[in-house]
Amino acid sequence: MSQIDSPRTFPLGRHAVERLGYGAMQLAGPGVFGPPKDPQAARAVLREAVASGVNHLDTSDFYGPHVTNQLIREALYPYSDDLVIVTKVGARRGADGSWLPAFSDEELTQAIHDNLRNLRLDVLEVVNLRIMGDTHSPAEGSIEAPLTVLADLQRRGLVRHIGLSNVTPAQIAEGRRICNIVCVQNHYNLVHRADDDLLEDLARNGIAYVPFFPLGGFTPLQSSTLSQVARHLGAAPMQVALAWLLARAPNILLIPGTSSIAHLRENLAAAELQLPEDAVAALDGIEAHGIPDGKAVNARSVPRPTAP
Ligand SMILES: NC(=O)c1ccc[n+]([C@@H]2O[C@H](COP(=O)([O-])OP(=O)(O)OC[C@H]3O[C@@H](n4cnc5c(N)ncnc54)[C@H](OP(=O)(O)O)[C@@H]3O)[C@@H](O)[C@H]2O)c1
Repeated sequence: MSQIDSPRTFPLGRHAVERLGYGAMQLAGPGVFGPPKDPQAARAVLREAVASGVNHLDTSDFYGPHVTNQLIREALYPYSDDLVIVTKVGARRGADGSWLPAFSDEELTQAIHDNLRNLRLDVLEVVNLRIMGDTHSPAEGSIEAPLTVLADLQRRGLVRHIGLSNVTPAQIAEGRRICNIVCVQNHYNLVHRADDDLLEDLARNGIAYVPFFPLGGFTPLQSSTLSQVARHLGAAPMQVALAWLLARAPNILLIPGTSSIAHLRENLAAAELQLPEDAVAALDGIEAHGIPDGKAVNARSVPRPTAP
């Protein structure tokens, strides 16, 4: 499917959002810990995103911690009515920047109040429960206890919609028996496709699939096939990686992260990039053949800092 056939928007809770959104994690300091070197530049990226039509922002109060939410509030409050800010709970940061699980009733309730305060909202539009699993891969285990807490906070009017992150199909099925799930945020990109079946199943159920690390994460994707296709189309490799995701399934919503306005503009322009069938076939082959020519670097093989 090319983007000509792809819808530009997909429902996320009560809004239909543009399929190209923005992930704010890269705006915090190194290791997603502490403030950025240039907070003014970070706020400028956020303003540029929204001015360019982005109406879906991904964040968390554990980015910084508190830093990306505060930057969003400083840059964008009062928010426009159609802006959907999606946050996530389930982790906290140690004094050394470590990522620690935070799933108790008290920790989840505190996280919701922290997000509300730092974003200056009365209700959080969408909250993902981020399961720790195997850091960036899900691991089986019941999610009933923390999800029940989040569903209670939803009933109390503090959360409008609930999503899940870093979860297995069984956990999604368990979650859907507890409350309505509007989105799933898992690790997925051109070279990491464990969720191929899952995302199609979610599409059939009208649930948004939001890949994290759409560009490979802290070490952006590198592949000679990707570079060749990009050269042939006169596009940047990261644009091609995003266009491939847009063409992959209509329920995929993208939240590429960047701290650079130039990269932001490049990424948003991927919405206009049409991939011919032979380009899609070549890109599909990257995963099928692993590392095709020995020069490609698969994002899975590159060590990088951990971050939920
Ligand atoms: N649920 C979860 O567990 C989870 C985990 C990780 C992330 N997330 C969310 O997903 C979002 C996206 O993930 P991510 O930001 O970690 O990774 P990403 O979007 O895959 O890639 C970000 C990296 O790519 C670089 N980049 C961006 N645009 C580029 C371009 N056009 N050309 C070259 N390099 C480019 C960025 O560097 P520059 O800053 O230099 O552009 C940054 O190093 C995050 O912002 C966060 O909101 C969720």
